[in-house]
Amino acid sequence: MSPVPAAEPADSPRARVTKAFALRFGAPPAFVVRAPGRVNLIGEHTDYNDGYVMPLAIDRALWIALRPLAGAQVRAHSLDYNQDMQLDLRSPAHGGPQWSEYIGGTAWALAQAGNALHGWEGVLAGDVPMGAGLSSSAALELATARAFAAVGAWQWDAVAMARACLHAENAWVGVNCGIMDQMISAAAVADHALLIDCRSLAVQPVPLPAQTCVVVLDTSTRRGLVDSAYNERRAQCERAADVLGVPALRDVSSAQLAAAAQAMEPLALRRARHVVGEDERTLAAVQHMQQGNAAALGVLLNASHASLRDDFEVSSTALNAIVECAQQQPACHGARMTGAGFGGCAVALVQSSAAPEFVQAVSAGFHNATGLTAQIYICRPSAGASIVSA
Ligand code: GLA
Repeated sequence: MSPVPAAEPADSPRARVTKAFALRFGAPPAFVVRAPGRVNLIGEHTDYNDGYVMPLAIDRALWIALRPLAGAQVRAHSLDYNQDMQLDLRSPAHGGPQWSEYIGGTAWALAQAGNALHGWEGVLAGDVPMGAGLSSSAALELATARAFAAVGAWQWDAVAMARACLHAENAWVGVNCGIMDQMISAAAVADHALLIDCRSLAVQPVPLPAQTCVVVLDTSTRRGLVDSAYNERRAQCERAADVLGVPALRDVSSAQLAAAAQAMEPLALRRARHVVGEDERTLAAVQHMQQGNAAALGVLLNASHASLRDDFEVSSTALNAIVECAQQQPACHGARMTGAGFGGCAVALVQSSAAPEFVQAVSAGFHNATGLTAQIYICRPSAGASIVSA
């Protein structure tokens, strides 16, 4: 099988890694693997509260062309950074370019989880925008795990791989995120969103309503302090769960929260109200999607945005502006900020037939309102981490 199908554009990351591999090593790769970025449709700031999320994998991914190495070494070249990295699998260490920490951390976490690692060498490139909140780092972690699984001939266990990659992110890279991004990059199903129960890690593919598409609206704003604000929200949620006497906010219903409201500080109550309401909206979204009810799903997206803006306080002026522009369009069923917040992207559910006009109108409206230029992508939900050729 040819590693690059004839229809693949020459500048796609898949074509670029395959070609660069052949140039560098004088032979075709033994494997080409990929793992996608993601956008979250609904279920925001719920994963670290043991709750529900419903992301989908976008049709942008990190790709690695590789072949096994006899020794316990990984040698990789990034086309995006034009940099090399090397890793000794017997004693993974920090150091090297920043992107290589995700490869080193994933190797370390996979070994910690008891996997026997074999060496490989390869070339990587991706088209998930970096720093936009579309999980380019989870894509790199899962592509790395897929590379080790390919050379080791392991059965792909999406949940075990997602757990190891989360461990890499938390303990090696030092980012205190929940498991949503790793789970969707590992386990996504093409043409579906994925309901993930972040306590049991059970998953359920859910189709989008007919004649709708998901549009990612990148405000092109980024905020540096997102980590500290994120950690602060996590701590506030944990304290609220303590006050309510439950292991996590997932264990509270809206009715129980309302009954306990008097005993809670106003800030803790607002944070908890977002999480508890968002879990309920996410489960309701599954029902609406199964019934093909795009309008009802859109109402939930809009409500999620209001809750993130007002109760959880993780939106921003640019995110509110782009969401409002989107919501004003007749083809838009609903829109909301997506991901950690404070900048980055919003997501909209749009009538497919009018998606190009929607993109034009939101670009123009957002530019008028803010002076900023948005990047807008119509997404086709893609599959999770995979070997695309061997
Ligand atoms: C970031 C984290 C995720 C999740 C979202 C908010 O994307 O990486 O684990 O917590 O924020 O829903």
